[in-house]
Amino acid sequence: MTAGGAPTLVVANIGQLVTGDRRLPPPGVIEDAILAAAGERVVYAGPASGFASLPRDGAVELDARGAAVVPGFVDAHTHLVWLGERSGEYALRAAGASYEEIAAAGGGIRSTVAATAAGSLDALAAGARQRARRMLRLGTTTVEVKSGYGQELEVELRQLQAARALRGEPGLPDVLTTYLPLHGSITGDREAYVEDVVERGLAAARPLASFVDCFCDLGAWSVSECRRLLEAARAAGLRAKLHAEQRSRTGAALLAAAVGAVSADHLEHASDDDLRALAAAHVTGVILPGASLVLGGPPPPGRRLLEAGATVAIATDCNPGTCWSESMPLMVSLAVALGGLTPAQALQAATSGGADALGLGDRGRLVPGLRCDALVLETPRWLDVAYHLGANPVAQVIARGVVQPLD
Ligand code: NIG
Ligand code: FE
Repeated sequence: MTAGGAPTLVVANIGQLVTGDRRLPPPGVIEDAILAAAGERVVYAGPASGFASLPRDGAVELDARGAAVVPGFVDAHTHLVWLGERSGEYALRAAGASYEEIAAAGGGIRSTVAATAAGSLDALAAGARQRARRMLRLGTTTVEVKSGYGQELEVELRQLQAARALRGEPGLPDVLTTYLPLHGSITGDREAYVEDVVERGLAAARPLASFVDCFCDLGAWSVSECRRLLEAARAAGLRAKLHAEQRSRTGAALLAAAVGAVSADHLEHASDDDLRALAAAHVTGVILPGASLVLGGPPPPGRRLLEAGATVAIATDCNPGTCWSESMPLMVSLAVALGGLTPAQALQAATSGGADALGLGDRGRLVPGLRCDALVLETPRWLDVAYHLGANPVAQVIARGVVQPLD
């Protein structure tokens, strides 16, 4: 398993190397292994015995001392750019108030919109940077970041700019951005708002975002409002994502399938037919087990998605309302405990599944030719990522073939 180029990084003495290689049984483990990169790409991922002949002069050498190495996590659904906080709501919900009741009373997304709109670009980027740094320490090497707390076009764009400002900073994950103009419900003329997003928003967001997303649910945006936007987005060259069937079943999953979305996310209330429609349309199903846990209701449909034949991804949904967590390892544990995935399936969903949910073919597995985004764990067993609840199993983070500073 080699590809061209003299190695610039060699990780030796790996007890278990999780490759995600589809030719091996999941999650593609090689024992007593070496991982090597030339520049940002993997050039070798295989048994130590097969590496002896490759030159390694001048390469940075990292001794894993028997620890496990896994691909970096790809967190494909976050709302990382926000100001303010909603701890009071968290307590209210624990005391019995519902997410919808709090939103109808002026809290919820609307309260974060008010705090976020008041922030400068620097303030928005500073908040997101702090969270992104925590994510990298917990093993996330690629993160998707949505707007959605701006509502006014100017603030939505500022959120996207804040997310993009983090790109290329050392010690942070790689950032992809998503324009989420239909998020919190609005008072006033909804049709005019959607038309304005179609007319002005898409063109303005086009240089700043790879995807367009909508929160399609009761109390948020309807299937027909979301269809209007997502069809226009497709025509503008932006791929669709969709918050679908989270709090109720609205038909959003079928809309995701119809518009060829790259992913449909949440899906707790989706039927088996919905999940089969996603599979047939090659839409990746993203489960967000932290939000499922916090809000209650049906469990995240991890195993159900796999049984329907769909690709599954796991993400944090990191946001101030329904799940403040930067931890992909915790989401992997929850996907096993609540979503019915095996640890191997969950690890794949958090790595190559996340890459699929972002349409990225260049990462998520440790095989020659792909990006060398890898985690040296604190433990010799990859299984501990799922098994050790609430821990940080990550000792070292390699992104694009370079060992990252973790302060
Ligand atoms: O993914 N579902 C909608 N959006 C977020 C929650 C946002 C918020 O409450 O601030 C979610 O759960
Ligand atoms: Fe979300």
